[in-house]
Amino acid sequence: MSNPPESSKQEHPSTYFVQDRTNLEELERVTVQDQMITASMGGILPEQADPSAYRRVLDVACGSGGWVIEAAQTYPTMTLIGIDVSKRMVDYAREQAEKAQVADRVEFHVMDALRMLEFPNNYFDLVNMRCSGSFMRTWDWPKMLSEMLRIARPQAVIRVTEPEIEHQNNSPALTQFFAMFQCAMFQSGHLFENNTTGIIDHLARLLTQHGCQQVQTRSYALEYRTGTPAGQAYYNDCKYVLRNLKAFIQKWGCISGDYEAICKQALEEMQQDTFHSTWNLRTAWGYKSR
Ligand SMILES: C[S@@+](CC[C@H](N)C(=O)[O-])C[C@H]1O[C@@H](n2cnc3c(N)ncnc32)[C@H](O)[C@@H]1O
Repeated sequence: MSNPPESSKQEHPSTYFVQDRTNLEELERVTVQDQMITASMGGILPEQADPSAYRRVLDVACGSGGWVIEAAQTYPTMTLIGIDVSKRMVDYAREQAEKAQVADRVEFHVMDALRMLEFPNNYFDLVNMRCSGSFMRTWDWPKMLSEMLRIARPQAVIRVTEPEIEHQNNSPALTQFFAMFQCAMFQSGHLFENNTTGIIDHLARLLTQHGCQQVQTRSYALEYRTGTPAGQAYYNDCKYVLRNLKAFIQKWGCISGDYEAICKQALEEMQQDTFHSTWNLRTAWGYKSR
């Protein structure tokens, strides 16, 4: 695919919950979270009957490229494109694809998915998007889904995965943080209602309303406990989240109490032997008509 030079593209103001696109820690966080989610969900496309049937795949807002690279490693007949608005993410993803020796079947491009998806009509067999509620406002969904359908081939799969806002956990301070985060997500227009489940209950409706057929869903409950490798990855993810979402939460007037003290207490509580957390995610997928 030939795309306009990346330097010629203008950037929209960021709607992403980490406002600074050059933030190095966010690259680390997205990398940790990507591996954590894929592993806990049971792989790249756990609910799809025959993923090897998809020859051309797009991942919208691909972050550090982990999902794309693992898909290329798992399915040798797949060619994949990942797009992300952050040049830092895209540069890192390209390096990782080289290291994983899949660069011949994988491309990454800097692209603002909220403008348009710069691909031809009827091009992909599967269009994937995960954790994009982080930058999509409620009013962005119709255009995004219509773009995903436009570039998908007839009968191709449109697949969206989103997490709940609040994780069910036994740390009072972490719960306080999630309440502030939920407030900011609602005030900024990312949520349809001010509730803890976020947008996951809307996914099937959105896909159906905006033209996908035979929409199905699968829910995942990701469990994290102190003292396990998954629990450690979860701790690291939360550590970055607590630090890097402060500007976003502040911008939308949702800080309540002493933010730094709440974060410190949350990290302490997460290190207790008894700490556990459940993070619910849902995948919704449907098909483009013939
Ligand atoms: C929470 S991360 C998810 C990354 C990856 N999809 C995953 O599930 O691991 C969200 C990603 O969206 C990207 N992003 C934010 N705004 C965007 C936009 N307007 N267009 C494309 N990507 C965007 C961010 O740079 C970040 O890499």
